[in-house]
Amino acid sequence: MSIEKSRALAATADTSRIESPVTVKAYFMCAFAAFGGIFFGYDSGYINGVLGMRYFITLHTGLSPTLLDNPDTADQFAISASNTSLIVSILSAGTFFGAIVAGDVADFTGRRTTIILGCGVFIIGVILQTASSTGLGLIVAGRLIAGFGVGFVSAIIILYMSEISPKRVRGAIVSGYQFCITVGILLASCVNYATEDRNDTGSYRIPIAIQMLWAIILAGGLFLLPESPRYFVKRGNIPRATEVLARLRGQPRDSEYIQQELAEIIANHEYELKVTPQGSYFASWANCFKGSLWQGHSNLRRTILGTSMQMMQQWTGVNFIFYFGTTFFQTLGTIDNPFLISLITTLVNVCSTPISFWTIERFGRRPLLLWGALGMVICQFIVAIAGTVDGSNPATVRAEIAFICIFIFFFASTWGPGAWVVIGEIFPLPIRSRGVALSTASNWLWNCIITVITPYMVGTDQGNLGPRVFFVWGSLCTCAFIYAYFLIPETKGLSLEQVDRMLEETTPRTSARWKPHTTFAADMGLTAEGTLAPEIVGDIERKGSAV
Ligand code: BGC
Repeated sequence: MSIEKSRALAATADTSRIESPVTVKAYFMCAFAAFGGIFFGYDSGYINGVLGMRYFITLHTGLSPTLLDNPDTADQFAISASNTSLIVSILSAGTFFGAIVAGDVADFTGRRTTIILGCGVFIIGVILQTASSTGLGLIVAGRLIAGFGVGFVSAIIILYMSEISPKRVRGAIVSGYQFCITVGILLASCVNYATEDRNDTGSYRIPIAIQMLWAIILAGGLFLLPESPRYFVKRGNIPRATEVLARLRGQPRDSEYIQQELAEIIANHEYELKVTPQGSYFASWANCFKGSLWQGHSNLRRTILGTSMQMMQQWTGVNFIFYFGTTFFQTLGTIDNPFLISLITTLVNVCSTPISFWTIERFGRRPLLLWGALGMVICQFIVAIAGTVDGSNPATVRAEIAFICIFIFFFASTWGPGAWVVIGEIFPLPIRSRGVALSTASNWLWNCIITVITPYMVGTDQGNLGPRVFFVWGSLCTCAFIYAYFLIPETKGLSLEQVDRMLEETTPRTSARWKPHTTFAADMGLTAEGTLAPEIVGDIERKGSAV
């Protein structure tokens, strides 16, 4: 079907018809990319275990294993604090930069290709780490490179999934990514557990090398999946955009639905380009920060929203449990097996996340994030108060653990997936890849900051806060609650283009009541014959090929 016909079809203000019906196969295609979450989770999860492995420590410290077997001396002979910090945080440094660069690459070579490239970079990093023996050079370099690859994958998967998913299930599909993160963390604990007692290089090489499998599966799968149609629209390649959209929706290319959905994407892009012209490379980066701080729909506000959203997600303190849980549970005393409790929190994380697949579409993003923050605040203050008042009582310790599990439940079913879903939805196409990339980079930056600061807050020879650290997390979660109330818009059930319009016409607090009342296609170029102005597509093609 010709582009003219597609424009004509979309040039109605029927807001219900701007997205095609979808086949089951098409749903599976969109959901596959969630597999990328395994990288994220596994990579954050495996390293703590490896650093504590007896064989790994003796290899790097050159000490006799008997010193490590003695519980009184074991601590002193672990990998030094500065080396541990270097090995752990170098990954976040790599991911931070990887995520930022990935935004550019995704606009240049495509979303799908960028993720595949990220898998390639990641595999190189993993090979270096696996090859490492004595000396930390290879492992540090390997983690930096692998981190770069994870940055590519973690930023662009969200972009890709948000752009290809049907609007009705977009939240659920992106939540699938969070689910895979939780499975990745669990897998890392299981693999570490299985190899930690080995007395050979397999103890650390197996958990490291196994990650290549995730990269191969993800890259292989994506190879067969279509590119995002919104990328082709951005590049001005309308025939390819039609082709991939038809594949994604499981519809013929000339179906009316495909033509209407496509025309709405084109018209929205054209509109956005009018509001914010692209310009040079630096000017297009500067576009992410354009507009007024006081207007909810300005690019600046959206960039602040995305980056602060991810900051708030880290402020919930969830990684305190996943990174430092075992040590924290040990300090509570009266617990026989702190590793088991850590495993339980990891399992609660995995099992609670799927609840969001339904709730995020049924109730929406805003209620989920508001109730989630409230639930976390209550649990955290209970843990903090109980631990401060009566921390040595075994019954109190059991109650603390129970409330930590309920806190994880609230995180996993709300802010865990919610933060990723929202950042994929709030940016307009011209700045979407960079906006999502910056937001993802913010997640890794805050992840890193919290990982570096926390030991100072809880270390027995430092702040020694013990359970009182939950006063800090509780206060930060209170900020997340207030933040959600004032700043998070409701995006449920809207196409990405409708979200764009909604942000212009409402405030976060009134957004849930907003209903689409027109389409960009209808607004932009209706002629007397009911067709869009013919210059629109030509214009998009010209601008896209000039990028
Ligand atoms: C967060 C991670 C966290 C994980 C726990 C993710 O959404 O960004 O930092 O470790 O959830 O499931």
